[in-house]
Amino acid sequence: MACVLDLASLLVLLSSACCVDPPRVPAQENASPVTNMTVDPRRKTLTWNYRRNVTEHWCQLDTPHNCTTRQSPRVRGDNTYFCHFPNAVLHGGATFTVNVTTDGHPYRSVLDFQNSGKEGSGAVNFSCLIYEVRVMNCSWTPGPAAPKDVQYQLYRWSSMHDDEVECPHYITDPVGTHVGCHFGELKEPQQKAYSFLVNGTSEETPIPFLDFSPFKTIEMEKPNPPANVTVPHNGSHYIIQWDNPKMGSDIASGALCYELVIRRKGSSSKEEHPLKRAQLTSQ
Ligand SMILES: *[C@@H]1O[C@H](CO)[C@@H](O)[C@H](O)[C@H]1NC(C)=O
Ligand SMILES: *[C@@H]1O[C@H](CO)[C@@H](O)[C@H](O)[C@H]1NC(C)=O
Ligand SMILES: *[C@@H]1O[C@H](CO)[C@@H](O)[C@H](O)[C@H]1NC(C)=O
Ligand SMILES: *[C@@H]1O[C@H](CO)[C@@H](O)[C@H](O)[C@H]1NC(C)=O
Ligand SMILES: *[C@@H]1O[C@H](CO)[C@@H](O)[C@H](O)[C@H]1NC(C)=O
Ligand SMILES: *[C@@H]1O[C@H](CO)[C@@H](O)[C@H](O)[C@H]1NC(C)=O
Ligand SMILES: *[C@@H]1O[C@H](CO)[C@@H](O)[C@H](O)[C@H]1NC(C)=O
Ligand SMILES: *[C@@H]1O[C@H](CO)[C@@H](O)[C@H](O)[C@H]1NC(C)=O
Ligand SMILES: *[C@@H]1O[C@H](CO)[C@@H](O)[C@H](O)[C@H]1NC(C)=O
Repeated sequence: MACVLDLASLLVLLSSACCVDPPRVPAQENASPVTNMTVDPRRKTLTWNYRRNVTEHWCQLDTPHNCTTRQSPRVRGDNTYFCHFPNAVLHGGATFTVNVTTDGHPYRSVLDFQNSGKEGSGAVNFSCLIYEVRVMNCSWTPGPAAPKDVQYQLYRWSSMHDDEVECPHYITDPVGTHVGCHFGELKEPQQKAYSFLVNGTSEETPIPFLDFSPFKTIEMEKPNPPANVTVPHNGSHYIIQWDNPKMGSDIASGALCYELVIRRKGSSSKEEHPLKRAQLTSQ
């Protein structure tokens, strides 16, 4: 009987000791409320879900190219949260951080994004050009460590909501590797900027992608030569006049610079006289 009593008091002792202890917090409550963090490198978007409500939150991107960009997250109808970094350059890797406060506790969730593939096998020296008002060509070079069977693909888009368009007409080198793209005529209305991504495939190794901050249309445009050059003589002077070439981008007429080179007829040498760097302020 004494034995049973002892056991009973022991049980009471144990349970009171248990009550003195701080209540056990379920493991999940201790974990960050952030879950399902994923990165879409093409859309340059980080998305995630919350396991419970949060009171304050931030997202942050760190890349070797741009020090730090911080944003306030946005939410979609399906309760997916996202941050979009349209100007980010991700091919060198990136660190995404979501930083939240819930019930007064701060949490940090970090996603390290790596551009997978063999170093030096991705495309290099990428550039694009708009000529004849709205025809776009782009070109690149296979990376120095590219495998022989590498094939590259180029994608273009103009906003986050846009689906990417793959290059419609590749330009190839003698062995058939894509090294350029003829996009043809750009649709109206002209976009202010375009984004590009070049990735690739090979049997040997994954190929890292190459991306950029958006290319401004105005910086890609190569103007045509000045139009309608005439040299009327008004009795005492020759007056050289021309029209601004037609441009696809909206640019202030004063932004175009001209260089006037007059070659004198009859001069035995082919000497050129750069006379003037003219800047038009009006037509
Ligand atoms: C290249 O990028 C495009 C556009 O994001 C994607 O659809 C495609 O799967 C990628 N290809 C490879 C080999 O990663
Ligand atoms: C995480 O993603 C999975 C699969 O898409 C989904 O079933 C789950 O509900 C998500 N978690 C939260 C907390 O939304
Ligand atoms: C989260 O917040 C919403 C709206 O404020 C509320 O309806 C919901 O009950 C909250 N959920 C939790 C788990 O606290
Ligand atoms: C990242 O850097 C590039 C140039 O290095 C710049 O053009 C771009 O605006 C930057 N993006 C952000 C989000 O700061
Ligand atoms: C989250 O970000 C805010 C704002 O930058 C900062 O003040 C806070 O210390 C961060 N919290 C954590 C846990 O990193
Ligand atoms: C890329 O361009 C730079 C400068 O124009 C040049 O030095 C380099 O050799 C080029 N790389 C390749 C792989 O063509
Ligand atoms: C653009 O690409 C097309 C197709 O390869 C080529 O015919 C044209 O000469 C290129 N234009 C320029 C300006 O490079
Ligand atoms: C011809 O044009 C020049 C420059 O505008 C002007 O100075 C000159 O007087 C003009 N000559 C005649 C004959 O109108
Ligand atoms: C060149 O002159 C013609 C005739 O005046 C005109 O129709 C055309 O628009 C001019 N071109 C440009 C680029 O201004």
